[in-house]
Amino acid sequence: MQFRSMEVLDYDAMISLWRDCDGVSLRDADSIDGIERYLKRNPGFSFVAIVDDSLVGTIMAGHDARRGYIQHLAVANRMRNTGVAAKLLERSLAALKAEGIFKSHVHVLGDNAPGRRFWENRGWMQRAEIVMYSYINGDSKNT
Ligand SMILES: CC(C)(COP(=O)(O)OP(=O)(O)OC[C@H]1O[C@@H](n2cnc3c(N)ncnc32)[C@H](O)[C@@H]1OP(=O)(O)O)[C@@H](O)C(=O)NCCC(=O)NCCS
Repeated sequence: MQFRSMEVLDYDAMISLWRDCDGVSLRDADSIDGIERYLKRNPGFSFVAIVDDSLVGTIMAGHDARRGYIQHLAVANRMRNTGVAAKLLERSLAALKAEGIFKSHVHVLGDNAPGRRFWENRGWMQRAEIVMYSYINGDSKNT
């Protein structure tokens, strides 16, 4: 198993993995241009896991100079429960910490019980006191 920084060249393999994963919602922002823009704006925080030249895990992370944000943590079915996600997360959190970002957030679909367990088992706190609002400043319903 190898871990390395995510590159836009990983796009096809990543999309294929994400499409296979319940719990990962794909949006307009997941176009190849969107991912390239994200990686350019947030260099050094997103990683992939590779086994035998095949991409088996992803994590995207970035920050706004105050808080870190984790997205698209996903591991191929055949590699689950072997610590891949934990190792990807460790890398992103270490990179964020090195930039002075000590607190991070992740959005998890409410009905994603295994996903929720993953975060809860690692000390991530569900924020019941916060309600999230989103606004689309454009025509797309899927931004
Ligand atoms: C959630 C998800 C990313 C977890 O990936 P994963 O690689 O299976 O996670 P890990 O292996 O690091 O941890 C899962 C469990 O395996 C256990 N584990 C880790 N290494 C292990 C090993 N060598 N042997 C046995 N079990 C092991 C961990 O202890 C953990 O259990 P715990 O949560 O009770 O502590 C994966 O299920 C997934 O891709 N789901 C779909 C997408 C999704 O829901 N993403 C999260 C929402 S953002």
